[in-house]
Amino acid sequence: MKERESFSGKLGFILSCIGSAIGLGNIWMFSWRLGQYGGAAFLVPYCIFVFILGSIGLMGEFALGRSRKKGSFGGIKEIFKEKNLPFGSIIATIPTIGLTGILIFYTVVVGWIIRYFYASLIGTFNKVDIPTYFSNFAGTSSSIPWHALAVLLTIIVVTLGVTKGIEKVNKIVMPALFIIFIILMIRSLTLPGAVKGIKYLLIPDWSYLLKPITWVMALGQAFFTVSLTGCALVVYGSYLNDDIDIPSAAIHTVIFDTISALLASFIIIPSAFAFGLDPTAGPALLFITVPSIFKMMPGGNIFGALFFLSIIFASVSSAINMMEGPVEALMHQFNWKRTNTVFIVGLFSFIAAIPLDLSMAKFGAFSDFITVYISPLGAVLAAIAFFWIYGAEKARIQINKGSAKPLGKWLEPAGKYMFVSISIIVLILGIIYGGIG
Ligand code: ALA
Repeated sequence: MKERESFSGKLGFILSCIGSAIGLGNIWMFSWRLGQYGGAAFLVPYCIFVFILGSIGLMGEFALGRSRKKGSFGGIKEIFKEKNLPFGSIIATIPTIGLTGILIFYTVVVGWIIRYFYASLIGTFNKVDIPTYFSNFAGTSSSIPWHALAVLLTIIVVTLGVTKGIEKVNKIVMPALFIIFIILMIRSLTLPGAVKGIKYLLIPDWSYLLKPITWVMALGQAFFTVSLTGCALVVYGSYLNDDIDIPSAAIHTVIFDTISALLASFIIIPSAFAFGLDPTAGPALLFITVPSIFKMMPGGNIFGALFFLSIIFASVSSAINMMEGPVEALMHQFNWKRTNTVFIVGLFSFIAAIPLDLSMAKFGAFSDFITVYISPLGAVLAAIAFFWIYGAEKARIQINKGSAKPLGKWLEPAGKYMFVSISIIVLILGIIYGGIG
């Protein structure tokens, strides 16, 4: 068997995890929620959840992968087998299926983003009615070629492998994304009228802390923004050498993911206010409100193109992580070559998503099914496998390997009881609320 690939060092690993974490959730969800649920008051529950829960979850996923030098499927299956537990092979597929499901619908949106980048570059938005433009495109066959391009880009990076593809791309696009975000934030904050948006984001309405919905949405946001799926970060962890400090990598991922979400908020919301637009959530924010902002902004073509370029960086770096999950699982299981496996996964995910290209209703139903049921279930199962079946003490030892400041015994109950039970709560709340991530 070939020697397993690995990240070249801590920087490449952390940037790749940040690349996975920063995605559409940071852009089309966080900024809207921040304003909607009490402005800066929302940051209180969000930071509590993302720093405590997010980092424990990340540490668990990284260490699960690293301890086995296998991705989610191989690792969970092996843990079940060691303890002679039944159904290991079936249970172990769930996180990988969840991540593949996310890949399927996510690349459709990446295709929309590429098209918007192109449209901004050639000045299309100056000439069209943006809501009509979006509805004539999303949910129709004209999104298919752009979707194909998104899958192709992802395939190219994943084919190149861990060091030459995933790590190299993230080392370029993540710093570039932050630089573009800072430029765009300065542009947004200096627009006349931006101050209303800044107030909307920053003036805390503490009464929101008394509303359970604020906590529920903060929990969902924190859980999904760092890509806790029981597979995505397990697979990156599986390429990690034992001398890398996992707690430090986890906390860096959380910090940079949070900074990017705040930067995105300070780009979008103040400029929306400056032009009298209503900030909304989800696709409408990114594909209707944002281009409307750039349409009215002096130099909007250039800033719009820059913005969509940065969103291509954010979303493609997440998509490559989503594709690596199933690719690694198949390579592990069948001993296939990377190139062939990437081609098969890429083609499968593309074909499976064509019905979603053609119908927004199907897109919504499929993405809800995956993000409400399968992916949180995958996160729960991976956490149970690692903290319960493998064992909390051994989990702590694995997490602390290579760490400059090893974490104490508290990590064991924190992983075993707190993280696992809150993950189950995330799953249940998602079902009750019809999605909280
Ligand atoms: N965690 C990534 C996002 O926020 C996938 O979109």
